[in-house]
Amino acid sequence: MQLSGIIREFPAGEQTIRILHGIDLTIYQGEMVAIIGQSGSGKSTLMNILGCLDKATAGEYLIFGKSVKQLDADELAKLRREHFGFIFQRYHLLGDIDARDNVAVPAVYAGMDNKLRAQRAEQLLTDLGLGDKVHNRPSQLSGGQQQRVSVARALMNGGDVILADEPTGALDSKSGKDVLQILNNLNKQGHTVIMVTHDPSIADQAERVIELKDGHIIADYRNEHFNHSDHTQALANEETTEEATAASASPSKVLRHKQKSRLGSLIDRLSEAFRMSILAMRAHKMRTLLTMLGIIIGIASVVSVVGIGQGSQQQILSNISSLGTNTITVIDGYPYGDPRRQYNDDNLTPDDAQAVADQPYVVSVSPQLDTNASVRYRSVQESASISGVGSGYLEVTGEKLAQGQGFDEQSISLRTQDIIIDDNAKTTFFPDITNPIGEVLLIGNVPGLVIGVLEPNENAFSRSSDTPTIYMPYTTMMSRIVGGENIDRFVVLIDNQISTSAAESAISELIEGRHGADDFRTQNSDSIRQTIESTTNTMTLLISSIAIISLVVGGIGVMNIMLVSVTERTNEIGVRMAVGARQSDIMQQFLIEAVLVCILGGGLGILLAFLIGEGINSLGSDSFSVIYSPTSIIAAFICSTLIGIVFGFLPARNAAKLNPVEALSRD
Ligand SMILES: Nc1ncnc2c1ncn2[C@@H]1O[C@H](COP(=O)(O)OP(=O)(O)OP(=O)(O)O)[C@@H](O)[C@H]1O
Ligand SMILES: [Mg+2]
Repeated sequence: MQLSGIIREFPAGEQTIRILHGIDLTIYQGEMVAIIGQSGSGKSTLMNILGCLDKATAGEYLIFGKSVKQLDADELAKLRREHFGFIFQRYHLLGDIDARDNVAVPAVYAGMDNKLRAQRAEQLLTDLGLGDKVHNRPSQLSGGQQQRVSVARALMNGGDVILADEPTGALDSKSGKDVLQILNNLNKQGHTVIMVTHDPSIADQAERVIELKDGHIIADYRNEHFNHSDHTQALANEETTEEATAASASPSKVLRHKQKSRLGSLIDRLSEAFRMSILAMRAHKMRTLLTMLGIIIGIASVVSVVGIGQGSQQQILSNISSLGTNTITVIDGYPYGDPRRQYNDDNLTPDDAQAVADQPYVVSVSPQLDTNASVRYRSVQESASISGVGSGYLEVTGEKLAQGQGFDEQSISLRTQDIIIDDNAKTTFFPDITNPIGEVLLIGNVPGLVIGVLEPNENAFSRSSDTPTIYMPYTTMMSRIVGGENIDRFVVLIDNQISTSAAESAISELIEGRHGADDFRTQNSDSIRQTIESTTNTMTLLISSIAIISLVVGGIGVMNIMLVSVTERTNEIGVRMAVGARQSDIMQQFLIEAVLVCILGGGLGILLAFLIGEGINSLGSDSFSVIYSPTSIIAAFICSTLIGIVFGFLPARNAAKLNPVEALSRD
């Protein structure tokens, strides 16, 4: 490692202060170097530059003859991963995972095979006398033990160069000695060891001592008395088996033959990120739940609103089909807005209806004319709406009889004075009579014999007023009540196999041919259906967009929490970067966490929507039920995943862009 003219400046307000003033230094492979100096002299700054955690402001730094100046963040990470092992004063172990997994972290990023990784981590810990503590978490270890775990971590990928910043600073003298002994042994096995200390007695044990003062090297000497044989066998070495020696005593080359394929390694890193996300979420259950709440509510409202919308649409449509499916109504008079339109066009005749009825695609036709009249039964007199209809009326409209019978061909041709009354008429004129069949009503001054009573109409789209309605044969109505030869409309029930629009234009053409003018209008049940469908769709869309706003708010909640999470785990990010995590690894970890929160929230939201639906279904009427469409559920899921990615991206990128040194120094 060759440094020449290394300068490091830090911004201090408007100006910059120079901490390292042109360091020239060469460290050779296999050396054991101690860097000493007073506090603030720049030891750690130099160490960070040596370990490629930090970059010099100016000067040249060559490692193995290669300049680090041109290397980008990921190439520096690769250098750290493959050649350096860091040991920190305050250990910097990851608190959520056990000793073995802590040791294994660098190998995850290097793509070492899972089984080998665990084996090697356990072997290293055993070598360092921690064989019985592999599954202890850092908080369950003493300081000296934690430092030994971090030594093992430094060796995980080979650790050609071990960089230790005050490795004994937080330890009692006994543990400090142990750690020092280990470092000495490692040096003997071929590792280059660079150690920062302010303790001269520790520096004494190093082969070479470099003294810093105010950013200058003021001394660089070799300890005359330094001799490998002086040092007694290390604690570690006493217990070392041959295999163990092989494991720890091989600076470099560890990775070469055990590396996974690119894909395998990526999957490995992803599953590590996944595991870390689960751990982080478990550690902050309450916070995670609160974050998810926004997503849960958003998804639940989208799914249930769409479900309710579809349910009501279904109900409305089934109401319409009870009107009689596939009907076309031909109405007298020019369309609204046509200048030829008059108050009372009289162009449509029963013959027109008959002509249409003769068509092969027509099932049934019911001519109709309407008026109002005063109706009397004994002392009760009430205004009622009177409709003259054909024998096919019930078939065409889909209305049902509660009592009695309908009209037949004879009623029409003989102009009988039979009438059918609706439920309103029954309650108005016969409040006390359960069976009004055979009673006689006076319509104006024409008597009518009740032969049938209609069922109450539950159809939301027919007359919903409580005006009594009375039906009689249209022929009777024309001759006895209104006079004239014209009808107001006729309803055509067409064959179900025939397209409504084709039938509609055929009928229009036929009547236009008979009249020589388009002095009529047509209307089909399909267009009503379409109107209603599009109306309910619009409603669903409207409410859904409100729900989407709540989803966005939920997403912003996720972003907030992720930012907090990044801040809280800055130190962890620093450690991961120091052991060689790429920026993309860090990014993945936080993205996965955000996506996981959102997917989980989405799942719970869908569950909640089902519960809401169950509630509505059990409360509501029989005819209404919430209908869940798979599309809305899939869309909700995709939505929550996208929210995770979109709103997790910014915090994840922030984390990935962190400067390793800065991240490490934060707590
Ligand atoms: N990121 C930074 N921004 C500004 N100044 C910094 C930064 N990092 C370090 N310094 C300054 O650089 C100087 C050297 O710091 P450094 O951490 O290298 O000292 P040290 O020799 O390791 O001291 P100690 O023995 O106390 O650890 C200090 O005066 C410190 O204030
Ligand atoms: Mg320091």
